This record gives sequence, C-alpha cells and structure tokens, in this order.
Amino acid sequence: VRASAREKIIVPLDFDTHDKAIACIHELYFKVGTFKVGHELISAGLAHDVVHWAWRVEQRPVVFWDGKLKDIPNTVARACGILCRYGITMMNVHAKGGAEMMRAAVRAVADEHRRLWPDPDVPNPPPRPKVLAVTLLTSLGFDDLVETGEFSLVEQTNGDHEAQIRQRVLDLARLAQDCGVDGVIASPREIKAIREACGGGFLIVTPGVRPEWAAKNDQARVMTPFEAVSEGADYLVIGRPITDPPNEVGSMVQAAELIADEIAQALGA
Ligand code: C5P
Repeated sequence: VRASAREKIIVPLDFDTHDKAIACIHELYFKVGTFKVGHELISAGLAHDVVHWAWRVEQRPVVFWDGKLKDIPNTVARACGILCRYGITMMNVHAKGGAEMMRAAVRAVADEHRRLWPDPDVPNPPPRPKVLAVTLLTSLGFDDLVETGEFSLVEQTNGDHEAQIRQRVLDLARLAQDCGVDGVIASPREIKAIREACGGGFLIVTPGVRPEWAAKNDQARVMTPFEAVSEGADYLVIGRPITDPPNEVGSMVQAAELIADEIAQALGA
C-alpha cells in the first residue's frame, strides 16, 4: 500500500533552471512516482535534459510530459510518437483538438512503442506511455467559455453554470475514452462524476490538491490527498506543498512522506 501510495504522487517541476529541477529530482527520487515537466521547462529548452536525468537517477521512466498538444491530427501524432523515444510515462493532448486528433495520438504512441520494443522476449521493456486528455481548462470561468463560443448566451442566461461545465467536461472525457485515450486531467470537483461515467480503468489525474497543513496558494477549490484518492483519483499533481513545505513539516522528503501516509490511509480505507 505504501509503495502504491507514493506512486500516485506527481510533482510538477515548476522551475526555470536546470539546477533547481535536477535538485528536486535528486531529493525526491523513489519518494514519489512521477515528475511533471510543463511549458516552463519545455520553453526553456530544458525538458529533454530533465527527462534524461530523471531516467538516470531512477533507471525507469518517471516523467509526465505536460505539453497539452493541440494541432492538426498528423502533427500531434508525429509529436506524440517522438515523445515515446524519450522515456516518459505520460503525455497529454487537448480533447478539444477533436476525436480524429486524439485517435491519431493514441495510434502513434502505440505504433512507436511497438517499433521501439518489438521483441516480446526483451525483459522489462518500459510500459507504453499513457496518453491523457485535458477537457476544459479550469482557469476558464463560465463567462470566458461564453466568450470563446463554448457556451451560448442563452445558456449563460438560463442554466446552472456549474452543472453545464461539469456536463461538458463529462462529454469530453467520454469522447476521449471512446478515442482510446487512457485518462484525463480533472479538477477535484470532477473526479467522482468522471469515475462514474468512465468506469474503473480510466485514469484520473488531479491537480489542486492540498493537505490540511499546506497553504492553498492560488488554488481556489482544493481537496486533501485523502479526499481526492477516496473520490477515485489515480494520480495527484502536488507542487508547492512538497517543493516549498511549511517549516513545521520540514523537508521536501518529509512533506512527500506525509502525503504518501495520507494516500495510504485512503487506499486502506
Ligand atoms: O503547486 P501546485 O500544487 O499548485 O501545482 C499544481 C500544478 O498543477 C502546477 O504545475 C499547475 O500548473 C498544474 N495545474 C493546476 N491546475 C490545473 C491544471 C494544472 O494547478 N487546472
């Protein structure tokens, strides 16, 4: 239980230098399951280097490439295929890129993984990287979604905005699942509905998680690790509570251990 609790923690490497990102990996290796590289490190040209280091430290793929791809199907498929070569565990695309784009991404990853590891007798080939979908960005409120055409003015005047957003998120999650996508990124308040709609095997990765002892920072609506896992999340993206823990908790490792304890309790419950 303890080991699988650690595996559920994803630490975002929200740093702008190589040294800070590597220091974080060196401190937390084997204490968490995954490190996430996002647009900051990708734009700085540092993401591949960090993936390489993480592989060297852990001797297994441990990076979630959070590139949120969205483009024409052919372009996204080629990019996803290329990412398979770098030893990562997960990558993501926008569901709003469309069904054809998602199917192309899933197919490209499966094809490239088979091409790289063709021999079924090779011991311990790395698992095929998972392809996840982003549904609606949680940074967008209802009015923003009306501005971009996601919802109509009629819906703005008449409906229950939260229910409308939740329904759209569920529709996009089901579409992603139909396209063969392995799971979605979802805010804590959507976990339960997605789990019910998409069933057990569909991965749910949830940011916006805060233990009781941590500051909320800029996260508006949060859940504790215990709650998020109890609701059905498979992975929790937890940044500042681990990378910048309060004094009374101590080091990054101590923060990660406390969170793993809490997840283990939820798994045992
Ligand atoms: O430090 P904190 O735990 O808030 O970090 C959360 C991570 O998850 C950040 O990398 C942030 O960009 C990402 N994220 C988020 N909320 C979303 C999507 C992604 O906080 N809706």
